[in-house]
Amino acid sequence: MKLYAISDIHTDFIENWNLIKQIGNYHHDALIVAGDISDNLDVIKKTLDLLQNKFKYVFYTPGNHELWTRDYHHNSLHKLDTIINLCNNRGVITKPHKFKAHWIIPLFSWYHCKIPLNKNNIIQEWTDYHLCQWPLLQMDLAEYFGSLNEQYLINYENSVISFSHFLPTAKLLPDPKYLKFKKLPDVSVSTVLAAQIKLIGSQIHIFGHSHINYDILIDDVRYIQNALRYPRERKENLVNLKFVLEIDE
Ligand SMILES: [Fe+2]
Ligand SMILES: [Fe+2]
Repeated sequence: MKLYAISDIHTDFIENWNLIKQIGNYHHDALIVAGDISDNLDVIKKTLDLLQNKFKYVFYTPGNHELWTRDYHHNSLHKLDTIINLCNNRGVITKPHKFKAHWIIPLFSWYHCKIPLNKNNIIQEWTDYHLCQWPLLQMDLAEYFGSLNEQYLINYENSVISFSHFLPTAKLLPDPKYLKFKKLPDVSVSTVLAAQIKLIGSQIHIFGHSHINYDILIDDVRYIQNALRYPRERKENLVNLKFVLEIDE
């Protein structure tokens, strides 16, 4: 079985939806979707159903867009639960899964930011600050999302492939002088995630969010991003699934 990866498919853009629809049948293979499908629950459901029909296994963790609450009447954590439930109802995998010699481990994550946010501190152009709604928590969001993984932080004997939406390190971003959005490093990285990737002995980690594709080895971990991105960010209107590795079931 082949394992493929993609992130940031943003299928609320019709161009992206059409590209995902055009993916052929991979009925013997698995796909990791590392967050940012849409903020609209109907689009999320429709996209997961489409992918479930094309792949034998679909692995998924929500990104920040999924937790925007503009069409949702509860807070972002409630929405996270709703999305995990709709995954469970469809057989989309959001928990660790064991194959013969490999584990695939989804890791919930958020970037570090302090809440409640002072209006003077928010990055005005960053939509999460306007559209996410958080209950009062005793810890920062990176810590809180990290705590959701606690039960899965064990020493896995087999080879481990993990994935998250956010980045475990700013080393997975170019120098800010090359970034269009200079504050991207401030809304992308979780050191909690970095510690967890190390703890579970991950050899390959797939991530998304920055829309900047990577396949790079840092401290013996292979980090991969394969973001479809927004239509305006692509030169070609093509979807490339990133082949990660061959896995025995
Ligand atoms: Fe994205
Ligand atoms: Fe994102």
